[in-house]
Amino acid sequence: MNPRQREFDTMAARWDEVHPPAEAAAAIERGLALVEPLSGAAVADIGCGTGILLGPLLRRLGPGGRVIACDLSERMLAIARERHPDPRIEWRQGDALAHPPAPGSLDVVLCFDALPHFPDPRATVRTMAGWLAPGGRLLVWHDIGRERLAAVHREAGPVLADDLLPPPEALAGTAVAAGLEVGLAIEDEESYTFLARRPAGG
Ligand SMILES: C[S@@+](CC[C@H](N)C(=O)[O-])C[C@H]1O[C@@H](n2cnc3c(N)ncnc32)[C@H](O)[C@@H]1O
Repeated sequence: MNPRQREFDTMAARWDEVHPPAEAAAAIERGLALVEPLSGAAVADIGCGTGILLGPLLRRLGPGGRVIACDLSERMLAIARERHPDPRIEWRQGDALAHPPAPGSLDVVLCFDALPHFPDPRATVRTMAGWLAPGGRLLVWHDIGRERLAAVHREAGPVLADDLLPPPEALAGTAVAAGLEVGLAIEDEESYTFLARRPAGG
């Protein structure tokens, strides 16, 4: 089994204590506002965990929207499924890169607090860029600063110790090379936001 899957499976039951939904709520609203319009949109939630994004996201999607909710951890995903029994969600368990959405099929790709756990974050951004339809938005964001996140991962033990978030400007170069326009590539001590868009004509 992928060691990160084992690690996140082990954490799933207490994930709400590690990443309390109430503490993340403002960051989630801030992020979802950046990728509007969401009504009727086709969205992927990559590394959805126990479904922290799904309540606010489903409210914004309306009846015509749909979400691919993907997570490596079977136990994280089981909790998310139980919390959100909604026919607009397609559940995918496993490595998001091994179960990719069809190229050009999505209006929005969301990756909240998950990118550093992919073995090659920049290659992951390149791959996610390929899932976007013209006009589609990619948002990678965190409610913690990059340095503090690295410290948290070091303290979590050897499996996650080297899971680092690249500086947002490094993602910008990758996104531009993948044909996207960068909207935001900013960070401070408490947050990290990378937003890019596929031009409407391409
Ligand atoms: C730090 S947790 C964040 C979960 C959720 N987004 C949140 O903010 O509460 C990272 C999640 O990414 C998932 N993950 C890690 N590598 C992944 C991969 N290659 N494909 C899909 N999910 C992955 C983990 O299983 C874990 O649930």
